[in-house]
Amino acid sequence: MINGLRAQPGKPTGIVGRIVGYIMDIYNQEDNHWTVSLLDISETSKVLEIGFGTGLAIADAANKMKYGCIYGIELSETMQKVAQKRNRNAIKSGRVKLQMGDVMSLPFEDNYFDIVYSINCIYFWEPPTQGLTEIHRVLKPEGTVAITARNKNDEVYLRWKPNTVRDLLLSSGFINVKILEGLNPKHPIYCAIGNKP
Ligand SMILES: C[S@@+](CC[C@H](N)C(=O)[O-])C[C@H]1O[C@@H](n2cnc3c(N)ncnc32)[C@H](O)[C@@H]1O
Repeated sequence: MINGLRAQPGKPTGIVGRIVGYIMDIYNQEDNHWTVSLLDISETSKVLEIGFGTGLAIADAANKMKYGCIYGIELSETMQKVAQKRNRNAIKSGRVKLQMGDVMSLPFEDNYFDIVYSINCIYFWEPPTQGLTEIHRVLKPEGTVAITARNKNDEVYLRWKPNTVRDLLLSSGFINVKILEGLNPKHPIYCAIGNKP
């Protein structure tokens, strides 16, 4: 039971998954709004979010564009349903397209997106370089990758310190990689941003 609950953030499922989604909405709000505010999304950008959860950041990103499209990939059907409900108007108007999928094997052609971002999700990629290599493949040359994670010293997060994620991006072929730190000391987050050459 405990292991099942611990596994939920990696793939929220069923009624418990919906409750986990509700909690994520509260705790991850800042991470989602902040990450989208860092991205240079234009009215015509083609953007992909990996592991969109309840779709908070998708809604923010969709508000920034008129003619572009924000795509989302999620492992969890439960989260997909919640995010679809939240973004139903943008889905109707064609600005948002959400689908099930796995970062390890993205269902998109090479060089397709201007921006690919992911928030609180890299922890579940095994190995993380496989997901990052897939992101590199679907990004256009000079496209932007942004990976947001918690900057904490708890056991779960120690593996994901900013310099480690920066090195993972570099070894997956990205350049210009920089670390931006969130401004709230009570909620330590960072975003590793880089480009495809
Ligand atoms: C901790 S939640 C974060 C959700 C949202 N990004 C946020 O910050 O509120 C991680 C999400 O990533 C999804 N996920 C985990 N591994 C994934 C993978 N390999 N490919 C796509 N989505 C994945 C999970 O189903 C879950 O909804």
